[in-house]
Amino acid sequence: MSGTILVGAQWGDEGKGKATDQLGDRVDYTVRYSGGNNAGHTLVVNGEKYALHLLPSGILNPGVPVIGNGVVVDLGVLFSEIDALEARGIDTSRLVISANAHIIAPYHKVLDKVTERFLGKRKIGTTGRGVGPAYADKINRVGIRIQDLLDEELLRDKVEAALAAKNQSLVKIYNQLAIDPREVADELLSYADRVRPMVRDVARELNDALDEGKLVVFEGAQAHHLDVDHGTYPYVTSSNPIAAGACTGSGVGPTRLDRIVGIAKAYTTRVGEGPFPTELLDADGDRLRNAGGEFGTTTGRPRRCGWFDPLVVEAACTYNGVTDVFLTKLDILTGWDKIPVCIGYDVNGTRVTTYPVIMDDIVAATPVYEYLDGWSEDISEARSFEELPPTCQAYVRRLEELIRCRISGIGVGPGREQVVMLHDLID
Ligand code: GDP
Ligand code: IMO
Ligand code: MG
Repeated sequence: MSGTILVGAQWGDEGKGKATDQLGDRVDYTVRYSGGNNAGHTLVVNGEKYALHLLPSGILNPGVPVIGNGVVVDLGVLFSEIDALEARGIDTSRLVISANAHIIAPYHKVLDKVTERFLGKRKIGTTGRGVGPAYADKINRVGIRIQDLLDEELLRDKVEAALAAKNQSLVKIYNQLAIDPREVADELLSYADRVRPMVRDVARELNDALDEGKLVVFEGAQAHHLDVDHGTYPYVTSSNPIAAGACTGSGVGPTRLDRIVGIAKAYTTRVGEGPFPTELLDADGDRLRNAGGEFGTTTGRPRRCGWFDPLVVEAACTYNGVTDVFLTKLDILTGWDKIPVCIGYDVNGTRVTTYPVIMDDIVAATPVYEYLDGWSEDISEARSFEELPPTCQAYVRRLEELIRCRISGIGVGPGREQVVMLHDLID
């Protein structure tokens, strides 16, 4: 039995895709368990760049890529991603999708945009992909599932039911045109023949695989601090990207999981609205953004950048039961004379050393820094810890102390092979 979860430990874009991809051909199944195409996971393999939104990163390795029940699926995006990969010679035929996964329908995308507009200055800064409204429908029990595509009559009825109330609010509140349920159903059904062969009882298949001793890797999307229960609510996504979400989002019980890997960037970034205590709004922030290429894979938005915040990562490690941290983009910090690392917050005159639960305190938090020595050597060719400059090693060791978790892998460049491993991530 071997189940491993890779979960984002900050606000997303930590390099979960790359961390998953570099596990390579030892992985039998790679499972996306939450989120939708709000995610953007960029991989660089043999100099070729791939930006994945819905497909698990395992699509580039020989194992079986899986879309679990916890994911919301935009069928148009799914098939354009598949077609684009096939055109580049990547075989996508092994992909399986849970019969219970929900569908992002065209009206979810309309609702995502109009609700953001109505929030005005209170907007969340969503990716506009319809993810929040699709999860809202799931919880409201008016969602459309992948298995509904297999029964035309049922699907048409469900779309009609879902739109009955929505059209009232679209027209009367949001000043939009009503959406024709027939057109929506026709569009969704146009994908039915392509989807049918991929539809599986994913929960059964993954449990059988674990029984056979196969390695199942759960690739998180978003991150702990974007989790609807544990993140900076309301500036969060509408699902549970945390490690526990891998269980609800795939049908695998907690007893079947061995390792939980937290993915953390060597500094911090965030896209969209919401508090970010170590954010840099000055030239240092621009320098990090430019060095790290911090522009969104999904929306192209510039990412907000700041120093590493161990309080953020320690909370993620603790609440996810993280066993190992994979620290990415350490190479991007090359060239700083001193690197500030946050060791606590000043919250209205009180010193705080753990991440606060009260949102007002997170908003009011002013970081207190210690300053570690930087390094100037190029580390992108390093493949062992000993090859890293002593001050770089000391930075990693100090972060380990502050986050109270061992760092088992380090990213030193975007390429699949650009990693330094201290401990294997797979038992
Ligand atoms: P994800 O959403 O967590 O998968 O992360 P993204 O793909 O959105 O953003 C991470 C970006 O950093 C991508 O462009 C990766 O190719 C790149 N990346 C990942 N790890 C490293 C690393 O160790 N060094 C460098 N320089 N780039 C990395
Ligand atoms: P990956 O998997 C970074 C953010 C959005 C917004 C909030 C809600 O690439 O790390 P949503 O569209 O989900 O309703 O938007 O969540 N967000 C992400 N930020 N990386 C992501 O995914 C994100 N997915 C959602 O910017 O602030
Ligand atoms: Mg991303």
